[in-house]
Amino acid sequence: MLFNSARAASWLSLCSLSSAASLPHKRATESGVSLFVYGTDSSGNGPNGGPIIYVDGLAYTGTTVAPSWATVATNITFTLDPDSTTTAWTISPSNSTVTFNSTESLYIVPTTGSFTQVGFSSSSATLPTDAVTTGFSFFGTNVAYAADESDYELMFWAVPTNSSGLYALYWDAAASTADLVNGSFPVTIKTTAPTVLTS
Ligand SMILES: *[C@@H]1O[C@H](CO)[C@@H](O)[C@H](O)[C@H]1NC(C)=O
Ligand SMILES: *[C@@H]1O[C@H](CO)[C@@H](O)[C@H](O)[C@H]1NC(C)=O
Ligand SMILES: *[C@@H]1O[C@H](CO)[C@@H](O)[C@H](O)[C@H]1NC(C)=O
Ligand SMILES: *[C@@H]1O[C@H](CO)[C@@H](O)[C@H](O)[C@H]1NC(C)=O
Ligand SMILES: *[C@@H]1O[C@H](CO)[C@@H](O)[C@H](O)[C@H]1NC(C)=O
Repeated sequence: MLFNSARAASWLSLCSLSSAASLPHKRATESGVSLFVYGTDSSGNGPNGGPIIYVDGLAYTGTTVAPSWATVATNITFTLDPDSTTTAWTISPSNSTVTFNSTESLYIVPTTGSFTQVGFSSSSATLPTDAVTTGFSFFGTNVAYAADESDYELMFWAVPTNSSGLYALYWDAAASTADLVNGSFPVTIKTTAPTVLTS
């Protein structure tokens, strides 16, 4: 089944990466945290460690250039507690010209059969059906969703958009390939910024 093989793929990539950095230490709420997205499609294209950005209430990554169709687009930082899975991860705009009218929290839709874009919402009234704003945590250095204490899931995926270099960030709870968007591929999310290569 796709769900299982996708999970296996994420676990394999986790295993290959987890020795690179130590586990997060116990600590309290942190603010100003940037999150970076890693992974490539079969052609080697991907977000390349691009940060998660906010575009009209949804999560995107890859380039930080605001797409032409955006109403509100901004770089963001997260406020999160790595030791609590019951605290929402809220965001702040990095751009002083952008104001969120209320506190925006990260959400995913983890319902089996769903392949839904990750987003931000200020109230339960505006959340998509079955979306959750808690359960986020780290598994090693990767952002995970703790469905329960013994089930940490790494199911973030990237979906190409109509803007060059920009990927929509999805949560994959797909039950079959029919649930997936064409061209999508699994990614991992870390607090580690990409290494800048100089020649
Ligand atoms: C994010 O920050 C970069 C670097 O400052 C900037 O070039 C880019 O325009 C910003 N993106 C958005 C959506 O504001
Ligand atoms: C802030 O947002 C404005 C309006 O979208 C944009 O023109 C500007 O480049 C952004 N600045 C940064 C540093 O991202
Ligand atoms: C906040 O509200 C103002 C006025 O309604 C609106 O122009 C602005 O786009 C809103 N900000 C966001 C991030 O949606
Ligand atoms: C590009 O994608 C965005 C987000 O889905 C959509 O709002 C916009 O209408 C699309 N533009 C074109 C030209 O397809
Ligand atoms: C995905 O691509 C295949 C082959 O091009 C096509 O048959 C299928 O309809 C596409 N699915 C979606 C959801 O666009």
